[in-house]
This record gives sequence, structure tokens and C-alpha cells, in this order.
Amino acid sequence: MKFPQFSMLPFLMVVVMLSLSGTTLSHPHWDFLHCLSLRLANYSTISKVIYAQNNPSYSSVLNASIHNTRFSTPATPKPFAIITPLKTSHVRSTLYCSKKHGFQLRIRSGGHDVEGLSYVSEVPFVILDLLNFRAIKVDTKNEVAWVQSGATLGELYYAIAAKTNTLAFPAGMCHTVGAGGHFSGGGYGTLFRKYGLAADNIIDARMIDVNGRILDRKSMGEDVFWAIRGGGGNTFGIVLAWKIKLVPVPAVVTVFTVNKNLEQNATKIFHRWQYIAHKLPDDLFMNIWITKVNSSQVGMKTVQATFRGMLLGGVDELITLIQDKFPELGLAEENCNEMSWIESVLYFGGLPLQSVDILLDKNALPTVSLKAKSDYVKEPIPESGIEGLMSMFLEEEADNAVAMIPAFGGKMDDIPENELPYPHRAGNLFEATYIVQWTKEENAESGKYISWSRRLYSYMTPYVSKSPREAYVNYRDLDLGINNNDYTSYEQASIWGFKYFKNNFKRLVQVKTKVDPMNFFRNEQSIPPLLSPWKKKGN
Ligand code: FDA
Repeated sequence: MKFPQFSMLPFLMVVVMLSLSGTTLSHPHWDFLHCLSLRLANYSTISKVIYAQNNPSYSSVLNASIHNTRFSTPATPKPFAIITPLKTSHVRSTLYCSKKHGFQLRIRSGGHDVEGLSYVSEVPFVILDLLNFRAIKVDTKNEVAWVQSGATLGELYYAIAAKTNTLAFPAGMCHTVGAGGHFSGGGYGTLFRKYGLAADNIIDARMIDVNGRILDRKSMGEDVFWAIRGGGGNTFGIVLAWKIKLVPVPAVVTVFTVNKNLEQNATKIFHRWQYIAHKLPDDLFMNIWITKVNSSQVGMKTVQATFRGMLLGGVDELITLIQDKFPELGLAEENCNEMSWIESVLYFGGLPLQSVDILLDKNALPTVSLKAKSDYVKEPIPESGIEGLMSMFLEEEADNAVAMIPAFGGKMDDIPENELPYPHRAGNLFEATYIVQWTKEENAESGKYISWSRRLYSYMTPYVSKSPREAYVNYRDLDLGINNNDYTSYEQASIWGFKYFKNNFKRLVQVKTKVDPMNFFRNEQSIPPLLSPWKKKGN
């Protein structure tokens, strides 16, 4: 079949495209598709960029970046189209046509939003999927890189390591997380005690604002540049790319893992760790993972604390340090492994150590259903409190649950709370992220797993930060409160806003009011503008 050329018959082409996709011409969706098709200008581009619901590739494009199968059920609201721009003009056109025809836009980079906000909405919406915006340009001479938002952290780390083994970037541990969402919420991993968050190391960005203007740091101004580095995604504009500062790492780092279960004094060692870990040198990263495991007694379960970490240095230095400061851990040489920084990315990402090429594979790990919640801890939890936490992991719903507990301190203590929107800096001993997981086949029973995570969260109340009870926006939790579909007052949004951003929430609202007063970029937990048009109309 020969398709007509745009230059010959633009309108006919749109009709052909829509009839091929089965779209009914009288539907409002048609106006959007018509608008976009006219702007994209030729059939071959349209077929690579627009995936309407009847397109045979619609489901595979939609599902390719769903990383929480809780939001992949027949009942989950679906976008009426997924747009996968090939160039900046396609992004602007999508924005223009969504605004013109009143469709909500959900921007998706890696698709790891734990509440599915980049690909689910209760109102008619389209997904702007940045899967073709994955270019990475590493400049080792100036120790900087440009990374497009759709690139995964694995692709970024791979690109850096392809050029040098003594530079790195301090971002998250899961290789399939996208730069776009991750940097928009802060982003931390094994280098954060030494260098801070990913967002702390961003030095420029390229963004399209609600008016379709392409802005860089200078033209967007310092307020907006501040807000996009941690104020949460889908709020201030569409970030196309980020300029990042690379950080030095030694050619050899040392990773370690020590497992302690309840019978091996896990509770006591965890208790002691709280007094020590945040004060250790910033070259050391240390994380505790709490999970349910098989006990040495056949048929019985126990709870394990996995102490996993990395020193930017050699094994002898690590063992001397831990034996001196934290002998209770019993770290021995057999728990340690010297390797390059890029191999440590595989180690912490739960990937086989054979080849770094796996960092380019978005399907290397299985996708599950999950619910996450987070806390910050400022005072050591008493032993009895830790015992209670551990015992909750023996419950039936916790078979695939994990509490991830990275020690804070180091560089995080040096960065003022208002430097970026992410406010959880000095004074935190650690963050705790609780994740409960189940299979897609168990989605009908998701309620029981979600209830478990709420009970755990409630149990932790006396031991964690208060007024506000702080939370990490990158482990988004809609239990904390949501926006209305239309007008959301400052007071209403403050309920979750202060938990994520503390006093920085006020400045985020001011920036939002300035750059997107009509609240076009929005989701259930985006920053609302101060006086939205609905309010002005007296609704
Ligand atoms: P996704 O594409 O879903 O976007 C997340 C949010 O940002 C959405 O609201 C989206 O609309 C918006 N957005 C995306 N791209 C945008 C753009 N270009 N411009 C504007 N808005 C945009 N965190 C951490 O700090 N350290 C870690 O080690 C991990 N590890 C981890 C593992 C796993 C398995 C999960 C599920 C999550 C994490 N996270 C994490 C949390 C992660 O940082 C967080 O979910 C990020 O928002 C994911 O970014 P994505 O681009 O993948 O998500």
C-alpha cells in the first residue's frame, strides 16, 4: 500500500491515519490527533510518533515502561494516545495540541513512578513518552555530561564508564529508573554521602515551559532552575535534558554484604548501627535491607538485616575502618569485594557481575506490583521498637516486602535545607523506605498488601520525624493526600507538600504560580498554583 504524501493532501492523510487506527471522526480525541498530525507533517513520522488506542503497538508501547504492575490491569485508566516524540518540535506540538483540546498530559521518562502517575490519570489524558530522548554526551575533559530525560540511569552509568573508570554520577541504584523523573525528585544512591543527590549535581537543563518556549538555566531563571531539581515531575514543564557534573571515584572501590538474622543479633546490631553509621567518613555508603528469609530451622522463617555498603577505597582500609568504628558488624575479608565503580552499580542493582552490557537492558529484572512509603529518622529507635518492626516482616503479607534503610550524614549534612526543594538534610540518621511487593496475578488481593504497608507505617509513627512527618517525593505515596481534579487550595496541598518539601513547599508554590498559573502540568501530587482560575471564578 502506498500512503499519500503530506505535501499533497494533508487532510486526507489525517483521515487515512485515523481510519487506519479505527478512531471515530466525531470524537474530541480526533481534534487532538488532527491537530498533531497536521503539525507532524508526514505520514512516516506520524506512524512512529502517535500510538492511538487501536494501533497494534499501543499496548506494547504503553506497557514497555510500566514498572508497577499494580497499574496494569484492565480497570486501570488508559491514555487515549501515547506520543513518542523524535525531536523537540514533536514535544512542543504535543503540548500545543493537548492544551488546545483540553487533554491532560502525563510525561513519562523511565516509568518508575511508584504511584503510576506518569501513565495513569482519572481524566482524559495522553502520555508524552520520552523513550526516544535517550542521548547521552559525556565530556570527560570538563567532567560534565548532557543526558536526555528518557535515558535510564543504567544507560548514563554505562556511557560514563565507556569513557573513564574514575568519573561517576551520584544517582540511584536501580538501572532502569529514568533520569527525567529521578532528577526531578532528588535522586540518591551509593555516592550520596560523598557528593549529595543527583539533583545537587545538575548544572543546567533544557526545558519546554507551558507556553512552548525552550529554556535553559539562564532563560528559565534561578527560581525555576531551583524548582525543577527536586520539586517533583510533571509540574513546571517538560525537561528534555540535564547537564550534570561528573564526580571523581577511585579506580577500585570495595563493596560488602553482611547478613544477620534475628538469631544472629540482627536487632541489637541494627540498634547500634543507628549511633554510628551517619558519622562514618563520607567515603562510605551503608544501607540496611530488612527482609523475610528462610530460617536455619527447616520450614521456619526469620527476618534478616542485610548490611550492604561501599567504600571509595580498598578492602584493607574498609576492614580497618569498620573494625575500629563498628566491630559489632563482624566484617571480614570474605564479605568484601574490590571492583570498579561501574561493577558496583551491578552489585547494588542486583545484577549479575559478568557484563556491564546488562545496564542497557530495561527488562533485566522482573516487574512486580508494589506500594511504597517512606520516613526519615532523627533519633535512634529503641531496641524494642526495632523488634516490633522486624516482627512485622514475619507476617504473611511481608513475604516480598523490604525496608531499605540508607545511613545519612556526610555531604547531606553540609547542604542547607533550602538549597534545593529536597529538604531532608542535616539531622537525619537515615531514611526508611518500606516497599511491599506482590505479583501481577495477585492484583485482586492488592488490598491486603497495601493494608500491611499502612499498618507498618502506623507502627513506625513514634519513631520517625514529626511535624511534619517527612517523606521522600521520589517514593511517592498518595496516602499522604492528593490534589482535586480542578482547584486545589494551598492548605489542602500543604498536607502532603510539607511532608515532601518542608518550608520549601512555599517557594515551590510561588514558582508554580509564576510559570504555570493555569495549572496545565498537573497530577495528583503536583504543586498547585496559588490562585488558580477556578478559584478566581469563585468555584
Ligand atoms: P516516571 O517516568 O514514572 O516519572 C516520575 C514522575 O516524574 C512522574 O510524575 C512524571 O510525569 C515526571 N516526569 C518524568 N519525566 C519528566 C520530565 N522529563 N519532565 C518533567 N516531569 C517528568 N529513587 C532513588 O532516589 N534512589 C534509588 O535507588 C531508587 N530506586 C528505585 C527502584 C525502583 C524499582 C523504583 C520503582 C523506584 C526507585 N526510586 C529510587 C524512585 C525513583 O527515583 C522515582 O520513582 C523516579 O521518579 C522515577 O523516575 P522515572 O523517570 O523512572 O519515572
